[in-house]
Amino acid sequence: MLGLWSQLSAAEVLPQYAKDTHLGVVTCAGSTCHGALEPWQQSNVLQNEYITWQRQDQHAKAYATLLKEESKRIARNLKLERPAHESKICLDCHSDNPPPNLRGARFQLSDGVGCEACHGGSVRYLGLHATGVATHAENVQNGLYPTEEPVARAQLCLSCHFGSFGEDSKFVTHRIMGAGHPRMSFELDTFTAIQPAHYRIDADYRKRKPVFSGVQVWAIGQAMAVSQTMTAVISSKFGRDGIFPELVLFDCHACHHPMSDVRWQPRASTGLPPGVPRLGDANLLMLIIAAKQVAPDVSSALGGQLRGLHAAAIQGPDAMASAARGVKESADRLLAAFAKHSFGRADLVALLNGVLGMGLGGEFLDYAAAEQATMAMASIVNAMRDTGVTDEAQRKALDAAMNRAYEAVGKDEQYKPAAFVEALKQIQAAAPKS
Ligand code: HEC
Ligand code: HEC
Ligand code: HEC
Ligand code: HEC
Repeated sequence: MLGLWSQLSAAEVLPQYAKDTHLGVVTCAGSTCHGALEPWQQSNVLQNEYITWQRQDQHAKAYATLLKEESKRIARNLKLERPAHESKICLDCHSDNPPPNLRGARFQLSDGVGCEACHGGSVRYLGLHATGVATHAENVQNGLYPTEEPVARAQLCLSCHFGSFGEDSKFVTHRIMGAGHPRMSFELDTFTAIQPAHYRIDADYRKRKPVFSGVQVWAIGQAMAVSQTMTAVISSKFGRDGIFPELVLFDCHACHHPMSDVRWQPRASTGLPPGVPRLGDANLLMLIIAAKQVAPDVSSALGGQLRGLHAAAIQGPDAMASAARGVKESADRLLAAFAKHSFGRADLVALLNGVLGMGLGGEFLDYAAAEQATMAMASIVNAMRDTGVTDEAQRKALDAAMNRAYEAVGKDEQYKPAAFVEALKQIQAAAPKS
């Protein structure tokens, strides 16, 4: 696992921006390739990946979404020159959108977020990988994106589920949200699980590829989300909108809730007074919890940096950008630390207690924080089950208590922090103590 970070310290080039031609989903979907109706018994991979993707995966419908009335309305409100399904700003995330000179003859934008949007343009690896003699490393050398590596996967998924901010960039701004785009939320382990999986992690998978625990994937996803968010905050292109900072980086529900619902309460971690917008810090809160186990010094430094960031955010974009640099540095150090840390029994128990402690201490007043905390607890509770930390009775009690938490975060606009705290108490009662 030590090789992971050194291998990835130079950020991976995302499939959309690499120089390999994309041949199109139909190229992958032959019935003897990845288009079988049922999993193959004699094969390393399931071979019915296409059917899973096409029938059950939202990514297959991402382009069709752009043809719907909601998208037409967004395009009208933004006064786009072309309809949504012809606009780069939408296609960059709702399809596989390499430049036109890197599209093969059978490539179609209308396939949506197809195989090569995640696995990379297949022109160099297609021939070799289909013979079955190429090793995974050889495929990666030939342009296959290393989706199994959590750092690379986090970078890939977040590029569309939050944004990417390099020379080539894509981002859902508050203006796009204001035009009608839904709010976005993401957690790497949960979203990996619900995609749904078109692969099976079995003995032969383990021979070919490294396997990472769900909690490690969760922690890496949090560090990457914070790092990417800070990149956006720092950037003069994405971090501001005129004299205002970019509002997408702030907590949506701090502004968007009825005035009759007076809900403000102090939060120790922000140090902010009432009546000011608050940066969205749900991922940062999770990162502080994850870091406590792995790099306690970075974790306590992050606590101070978080207060500094909140204070800077109300001074203006320049102060905010400068505070964000320190946070980004910590997040990048943690990314490296998490990539090397295998989370064991003591870690899982401490992580669950960390989430509960923060919530019972009054930190999850914001919906986004409660939502991230719920996905974090689900990831930890699943890992506890998979590694035998919990027995049958504990599992049942934890599942019942988790259902209360899911209920409390079911609808963002009806979120009641007190109901969430009640769920946390029930989870605490059911949680293993050591
Ligand atoms: C090229 C952009 C792109 C990439 C890369 C990408 N996604 Fe998505 N994803 C989308 C879009 C767009 C949607 C929404 C599709 C729709 O409903 O129109 C989506 C939807 C989803 C959903 C369904 C969410 C829901 O609310 O039902 C899951 C789960 C998901 N993505 C997981 C992932 C994971 C895990 C990764 C990384 C392995 C990933 N995505 C990479 C663009 C992307
Ligand atoms: C940075 C990537 C990104 C960009 C840019 C983007 N989207 Fe999305 N969009 C997503 C993701 C991811 C989701 C799924 C959110 C979720 O469910 O978590 C989504 C969801 C949607 C939905 C709701 C889909 C559903 O199933 O209900 C609509 C409609 C939509 N986008 C339209 C657009 C339009 C129109 C544009 C161009 C103006 C656009 N999007 C630009 C990533 C993006
Ligand atoms: C949203 C991103 C995404 C899309 C779209 C996607 N995949 Fe995957 N795929 C993944 C992830 C994540 C994994 C699991 C990690 C890994 O083994 O690389 C994976 C794994 C696989 C594997 C490896 C199985 C193994 O045992 O090694 C195959 C084969 C595969 N995908 C084929 C496809 C095909 C074919 C399509 C299109 C029909 C497709 N994928 C679309 C993300 C994606
Ligand atoms: C600092 C306050 C603030 C924050 C934070 C904020 N918004 Fe807004 N939002 C506004 C304002 C102001 C408008 C414009 C309202 C109007 O035109 O009536 C608006 C408009 C919108 C609209 C259009 C509403 C309508 O009635 O047409 C949507 C949707 C929206 N925001 C979503 C979001 C999302 C999602 C987030 C978080 C990612 C967010 N906002 C964060 C202040 C905020």
